[in-house]
Amino acid sequence: MKADTNIGSQSSALEALEVVVQIDDLYKSFDHNHVLNGFNMKLYKGESLVVMGKSGSGKSVMIKCMVGLMRPDAGEITIMGKKLLNLSQANLDDLRSDIGFLFQGSALYDSMTVRENLEFPLRRHSKKFATDIDEEKLVIEALENVGLAHTVDLMPAELSGGMQRRVALARTLILKPKIILYDEPTSGLDPITAKEIIILMQKIQEKYGTSSLIITHDVDCARVVSDRMILLIDGINYKVGTFKELEASDDPKIQAFFKH
Ligand SMILES: Nc1ncnc2c1ncn2[C@@H]1O[C@H](COP(=O)(O)OP(=O)(O)O)[C@@H](O)[C@H]1O
Ligand SMILES: [Mg+2]
Repeated sequence: MKADTNIGSQSSALEALEVVVQIDDLYKSFDHNHVLNGFNMKLYKGESLVVMGKSGSGKSVMIKCMVGLMRPDAGEITIMGKKLLNLSQANLDDLRSDIGFLFQGSALYDSMTVRENLEFPLRRHSKKFATDIDEEKLVIEALENVGLAHTVDLMPAELSGGMQRRVALARTLILKPKIILYDEPTSGLDPITAKEIIILMQKIQEKYGTSSLIITHDVDCARVVSDRMILLIDGINYKVGTFKELEASDDPKIQAFFKH
């Protein structure tokens, strides 16, 4: 997708692409805390869309609504043509097997080996695969994608923070998702390790042509991975554009994100 520099915010180029996720007028409040106030978003097939917003602006709330972990007060979420809020639990589970989700923090199961961590989603979504799948092959292939096949028998505690994040990424990839949602993929990592993760995200995008939604407040991450960006401010999509377009804006609210 990166090669297609036309994608930018030019609507004519975008309209030709399939929309894989559409969010319309999403509202979510917690008592008097109005977090999302009519948020709209479209994720196009094959693109990397970054949503940037300040801490507490509702980025995680938005992504949790997208995977059915939180119910919005109002609005519509359509994923690959299916209206999420009307789905039965069984249909929601099926849809989830096409969506990879890298949580904030890597959240591996501490008491399981790397292999067991990766087998877990395969068993949970076993319907997605033929019954005679070679689990071991899938586990190793997923780990090879993140350069960690040699850690398959280790426990998470034996890995560095960056390696744990990469194993979590491999666990996300094992189901061969069509859409990957990244919630703060580089948070809590030192700059060098963060860069490794960013490079891996790009590699995966190129290899599998997934559609990616990346939530971050890391400007360096946004610069490298984004085809387009949305700034989430005051619960709405305040501004949509390419990194360069937003960086060049003279709106102080937008500039605040780009000043180090
Ligand atoms: N389960 C919850 N109950 C009450 N308030 C919540 C809950 N989850 C999130 N919030 C509030 O919603 C706001 C947005 O949170 P969040 O989406 O986690 O922010 P971020 O943009 O940093 O990911 C914050 O003010 C947070 O306190
Ligand atoms: Mg968050």
